[in-house]
Amino acid sequence: MKPIKVGLLGLGTVGTGVVRIVEKHQSDLESQVGSPIVIEKILVQNKDKARSISIDQHKLTDDVWEIIHNPEIDVIVEVMGGIELTRSYILEALSRGKHIVTANKDLMALHGPEILSKAQEHGCDVLYEASVAGGIPIIRTLIEGFSSDRIMKIMGIVNGTTNYILTKMSQEGADYSEVLKEAQALGYAEADPTSDVEGLDAARKMTILATLGFRANVALEDVDVKGISAISREDILYAKRLGYEVKLLGIAERQDDYISVSVQPTMVKRSHPIASVNGVFNAVYVYGEAVGETMFYGPGAGELPTATSVVADLVAVVKNLKLGVNGKQEKIAYKEKKLKTDEQIASKYYLLLHVADRAGVLARITQAFAEFEVSLESVLQQPNPSNPEAEIIIITHDANKASMKKVLNSLEDMEVVKTIKSVYRVEG
Ligand SMILES: NC(=O)c1ccc[n+]([C@@H]2O[C@H](COP(=O)([O-])OP(=O)(O)OC[C@H]3O[C@@H](n4cnc5c(N)ncnc54)[C@H](OP(=O)(O)O)[C@@H]3O)[C@@H](O)[C@H]2O)c1
Repeated sequence: MKPIKVGLLGLGTVGTGVVRIVEKHQSDLESQVGSPIVIEKILVQNKDKARSISIDQHKLTDDVWEIIHNPEIDVIVEVMGGIELTRSYILEALSRGKHIVTANKDLMALHGPEILSKAQEHGCDVLYEASVAGGIPIIRTLIEGFSSDRIMKIMGIVNGTTNYILTKMSQEGADYSEVLKEAQALGYAEADPTSDVEGLDAARKMTILATLGFRANVALEDVDVKGISAISREDILYAKRLGYEVKLLGIAERQDDYISVSVQPTMVKRSHPIASVNGVFNAVYVYGEAVGETMFYGPGAGELPTATSVVADLVAVVKNLKLGVNGKQEKIAYKEKKLKTDEQIASKYYLLLHVADRAGVLARITQAFAEFEVSLESVLQQPNPSNPEAEIIIITHDANKASMKKVLNSLEDMEVVKTIKSVYRVEG
């Protein structure tokens, strides 16, 4: 049987896993697709670098055109990362009729529509299962498993670094900066952690999930992003005391045909399944109008988990090749995108205020909420022994974002409110 020849762009963490899985599972893969799968050439930056797997040196190249211009190569697996250079390689490969498998969320979040439309133009497949939540097959699930339902809400813990940090802060009562340093030492956080801790990585993944879930082209600019770097030990402590965990959640919601997408630290009721997702694990909770609640859990990164998703995509491309149906997938984003206004985005909120410790303060504060029609679920006032100010903890009922902004402006102007320490969305 004629082998299917694959060009691999990148032999780092994920690329190495892809080589291992293709070698180790070769006979199973061949039984599934009816041909051997051969990794013909591998693009690297440095051919002389020591590798953790033994690899035929002749397969390595530092010239991408040796792969893209090779007429024998049917599929290109892109696991080198990067945006602009990678985009140009992929567009050129597509124009030459090569199918693409990629793990690159940055590329798909920023240039997904362009790449997918180029693929359609040339009758090619572009699959990107590993780009969100590494080893969890969430992309195929959203496209195929939910095709008969109407997804109303997606909530994701889609960044392992921030979930590791928040879990440690919660379990050990540690400070943010302390845990970040530890995560960096363990290799769970980058030397420059900005993209993870400020929520950008999660926002890119939510762009992809929301596009698939709501069948409309959601762009990165549509995602309201707030990271975890301002979360204090005090926040975590109060959350726990009230029965919540603080998680960096990507939240994509639909009401009628209007959608909103955000990434923000959220207080999640401990009884909610996503509250118990700890450490570097990822989870995606999907609420379908018909099916109700579902949740998908697993490793969000790592060599073999990520590579299993990449190779599963490779198998799908090869099956399509055999059936002659590459590039024939339905258009995913067929709906017009309608974004909710701040008046339409509703949730419960948690606020921690430091206020003057004197009579009548609580009444003035609750009055500000009443003025903008935000009703309160609970209010807790307690003196702070280390501080002349008192602390007020407020949890609202569902309130729209526009009203909450007005309440916050009004609190900021009050002489009795010394600091608005924290404001978080509440789920569950
Ligand atoms: N790591 C994960 O767990 C994970 C999970 C999900 C998705 N992803 C995505 O998968 C992709 C790869 O991640 P990774 O962690 O495997 O990256 P990595 O370990 O840094 O490996 C990158 C590989 O690409 C090669 N490379 C990079 N730039 C190149 C260039 N300009 N020309 C030629 N070769 C180049 C490098 O060559 P050398 O080896 O010679 O340096 C290396 O082999 C990224 O898009 C990432 O976001 C990763």
